[in-house]
Amino acid sequence: MKYFVANWKARKNLNEAYQWMEIFLSKLKTNKNLKHKLNINQLKIIICPPFPFIHPLKQKYGEVQTNLVFGAQDLSSFDEGSYTGEVTAKTLQGLVNFVILGHSERRKYFGETDKMIEKKILLAKKHGIEPILCIRDKHDLIPNQTKIIAYEPVYAIGTGSNESPEEIIQLREKLSLIEETVFLYGGSVDEKNAKKYLPYGKIDGLLIGGASLDALRFYRIITTE
Ligand code: PGA
Repeated sequence: MKYFVANWKARKNLNEAYQWMEIFLSKLKTNKNLKHKLNINQLKIIICPPFPFIHPLKQKYGEVQTNLVFGAQDLSSFDEGSYTGEVTAKTLQGLVNFVILGHSERRKYFGETDKMIEKKILLAKKHGIEPILCIRDKHDLIPNQTKIIAYEPVYAIGTGSNESPEEIIQLREKLSLIEETVFLYGGSVDEKNAKKYLPYGKIDGLLIGGASLDALRFYRIITTE
């Protein structure tokens, strides 16, 4: 199974989100091979929009295609209670299958620590949401329960510089993960360079920021051979 995660970050309004889905699905509809790969669990596409778009997008498109699912970009490190403005795992339960946690932007701009991220992982699991843990390097904590890791070196995020598949695999090996761990790469992936990562069995997919904002570019990344 190869994973393609679209991280829209803090971008788009609801209309733009609908437009994105319409364009993406119109391409998908005409691509029998891609639909087949999704249907037989060879591919999973996880779209992570800003919180307010998750419910309307899921209502409209949630049932359209197997393995085309929605994820959140974060959730609260609190369970439930008087935490004004927080979006908890319980709130997201039933709305998303996945959540990106520990993104380097959250660590940098919102002061997230390994400890907070571990709490978020536990809360996500408790509410049936699978975390995609982002790590910047081999020093970030990987709690035991983590099944999906996205390695995203900070220098590569949004910069146009990206890491070679060999270096990514070396990093994976240093982490001594269990065999079943899903290991993704993220950092300036686009429709031109995606194909260099995909043939490697040890890179299970890609987490895409900037290039996922355009439905056609994201589609090209997924369909690159
Ligand atoms: P990028 O972002 O693809 O724009 O480099 C990746 C990410 O931050 O998840």
